[in-house]
Amino acid sequence: MTRLSLTTADPLTVKADALVVAAYQGANGPVAADERFAALVDAAALAGAAGKPGSVTTIPAAGAVAADRVVVVGVGAAADDRSPAESDDLADRVRRAAGAASRAVAGHTKVVSTLSLLDAAAAAEGHLLGAYVFDAYKKPGSAPVDAVVLTVPSANKAAKQILERATVAAESVAFARDLVNAAPNDLYPAEFAARASAAANKAGLTVEVLDEKALAKGGYGGILGVGAGSSRPPRLVRIAYTPAKPVTTVALVGKGITFDTGGISIKPGPKMDQMTSDMAGAAAVVATVLGVARLGLPVTVIAYAALAENMPSGTAYRPGDVLRHYGGAPAGRGKAAAQGKTVHVLNTDAEGRLVLADAIVRACEDNPEYLLETSTLTGAQVVALGKRTMGVMGDPGLRDRVAELARSVGEGGWAMPLPEHLREGLDSPLADLQNISGEPAGGMLVAGHYLAEFVADGVQWAHLDVAGPAFNDGKAYGYTAPGGTGVPVRTLLATIADLAGR
Ligand code: BES
Ligand code: MN
Ligand code: ZN
Repeated sequence: MTRLSLTTADPLTVKADALVVAAYQGANGPVAADERFAALVDAAALAGAAGKPGSVTTIPAAGAVAADRVVVVGVGAAADDRSPAESDDLADRVRRAAGAASRAVAGHTKVVSTLSLLDAAAAAEGHLLGAYVFDAYKKPGSAPVDAVVLTVPSANKAAKQILERATVAAESVAFARDLVNAAPNDLYPAEFAARASAAANKAGLTVEVLDEKALAKGGYGGILGVGAGSSRPPRLVRIAYTPAKPVTTVALVGKGITFDTGGISIKPGPKMDQMTSDMAGAAAVVATVLGVARLGLPVTVIAYAALAENMPSGTAYRPGDVLRHYGGAPAGRGKAAAQGKTVHVLNTDAEGRLVLADAIVRACEDNPEYLLETSTLTGAQVVALGKRTMGVMGDPGLRDRVAELARSVGEGGWAMPLPEHLREGLDSPLADLQNISGEPAGGMLVAGHYLAEFVADGVQWAHLDVAGPAFNDGKAYGYTAPGGTGVPVRTLLATIADLAGR
């Protein structure tokens, strides 16, 4: 992975393969964000640089500076003349510019960046996130840049902490991206559980994996039902980080469908391959608990990954089946466990909520103060908010906080309501619930209502639907590579840091 370091030296005098400088998008061409680079930006303007956000123009330095070449990256309009459409804050424009710069200098050894003079944290994160490549199946055209040196006014404690936090955030994102990018023939429930356990054990965390036998014994009917069609059985993974003096307890729950064919309610062929990303929520919660542990935040965090493969077969669950969700463990020896809620399955493609309901009930047994659940849950999320904005539902206070933090880290989030009248669509004449409402209206919100049924009283919860944002099915842009994006890892890290009071 790309290494980050700090320098207080004059960037014009640092020997490197490239010098990265920022340009605003002015009315009459690009404007250097720093006076010292005005001549370089003017030269780049002749090569087409305009300062558009995310744009990259590389010119030979021709001896004007110590670096071999100059990479001019656009950060958009200056603060005072912004259009309403360009509402992302400067931090994320710097983050994206740094990401684009990192991609542009792939194959090189050393780069000195001055984006850190605009926002050191954003530059650090963007450079690392943008350098990510997934090379498990194919050698990349050029290797990620080895070293990025950030120009800072002072390499003090605060600057070093920024570096440390950016590194943990970016490596956590990379961990989640790697899991999402693994092909579904390679990453099935047991393999996901093995990779998550290995990482968590290495970090000294407490790990528990329920296999299909343990799930049957515990009565996890949702996870077992969804996983029944696959020759590769389901798992429930629990990873706990328990610091000495926690200020609060956060449960994380992630949807881990390692491949979603839709099951017997099978999906159409086109783009079905993208359902390899249907475990992005589980990947994010595992990456997050590992990241929180590395940062040593004073919060108990317990992550649950609800893992199954949704396949059609002779053993698959069917439309018409009635499943019984997990109802909790017996209160004492010899006591019977509470019976979980029953669900009439009307569509086997609405499987995420079925595995999540079991995991949410289990997570609430840890008595968390907060429960953050995330999933690639509904196509309706993509219809409503597009591919780059997650929908956030749940208790209004926490929901609004999470949505705000999602925007502040550049992951994009918007608070969504759970209108009371939509709950009725889940009433079933046969069972406690049915898994779809039978009409497409408000699909993202109906799914939210389903999950709400399983959150214990007194637990503040938020549901992050990342169906669009978790996976980039197009080209690289900013700091986002094709494939798994790692969303919502940085939102979860920011939320937990916020709850920790940092
Ligand atoms: N995994 C899908 C949701 C999804 C769609 C994620 C597109 C990423 C991109 C989920 O399991 C699903 O199939 N949802 C159904 C629900 C419906 C049957 C109520 C959907 O959105 O169509
Ligand atoms: Mn589905
Ligand atoms: Zn799914």
